[in-house]
Amino acid sequence: MSFRAVGQFPNYRPRRLRQSPALRRLVRETELSAGNLVLPLFVRSGKRRRDPIGSMPGVFQLSPDEALIEATKAFKLGIPAVLIFGIPDHKDKKASGAYHKNGIVQQIVRLLKKELPELLVITDVCLCEYMSHGHCGIVHEERHILNDASLPLLARTARSHAEAGADIVAPSDMMDGRVAAIRAELDKNGLEDTPILSYAAKFASAFYGPFREAAESAPKFGDRRSYQMDGANTNEAMREVAMDIAEGADMVMVKPALAYLDILHRVKTEFGYPTAAYAVSGEFSMIKAAAEKGWLDERGATLEALLSMRRAGADIIITYSAMDVARWLK
Ligand code: PBG
Repeated sequence: MSFRAVGQFPNYRPRRLRQSPALRRLVRETELSAGNLVLPLFVRSGKRRRDPIGSMPGVFQLSPDEALIEATKAFKLGIPAVLIFGIPDHKDKKASGAYHKNGIVQQIVRLLKKELPELLVITDVCLCEYMSHGHCGIVHEERHILNDASLPLLARTARSHAEAGADIVAPSDMMDGRVAAIRAELDKNGLEDTPILSYAAKFASAFYGPFREAAESAPKFGDRRSYQMDGANTNEAMREVAMDIAEGADMVMVKPALAYLDILHRVKTEFGYPTAAYAVSGEFSMIKAAAEKGWLDERGATLEALLSMRRAGADIIITYSAMDVARWLK
């Protein structure tokens, strides 16, 4: 699309189209609706458990029965999908809880698919929550993350989620080659129809802080900069996305969202793939904290932030505010 110089339209007065709510609605270019949203859920073992997460007001670690209640509310509000994160009872150096047939994710997936078959269940495929050291792959001598050695574990985790009934698997580890490894493993096991939503451009970010409390997945040493992206790089993000698509990703994600809207826009315009934005924990918590102090209007700030993601090109928005937003939009 190209615009002529404003001087060529001496009679154009943009304000004319802003005079009333109805007029503004008529010419609105972007819409945010519940149908775009995905609600993340943190699930751990037990019954009737709703453990509050201090850094994320209103978000809980839920036992499967409580997660089902939450998912049912979300579904009734018109939210089409949930994203599952598991918090295992047991962590080790090979993340065995991630691909155990009766792991916490596998249990909740089976329960949700049985009770709410129409709700899409997306699973986060990562090893960090299941590793005693908190990194997203196998660690060598407390220093290096072994990329290739981690791939079979990730593939096995994704397969076990899909076998439990997950509708979509979403690898968030950022190991190179994991989409291909997961695709091959799924295809070999009769799961060729399970789509992959890859966290394609995932940046090493301070905005994940509250999540690491929520998922109990903070690395015990070092950080994630050897595998997550450097926030300074745009072209590299395009290569990451291109690679994941070539390897078989059906949908791609940019994460975080608010500080990376330029990346989101470029990913959507250059690849035209179904694109997700993850409004991460820090984006959620900073609005909550400011709202608690009375410094920001929570509803206004949240809707404005999420709308900016839609405007930048997101088809899908993963947000901890999904239920509130769905209510506000009603
Ligand atoms: C797992 C994972 C993380 C997030 C989603 N999946 C944390 C991380 O990479 O440290 C962050 C989500 C959020 O902050 O809301 N690797």
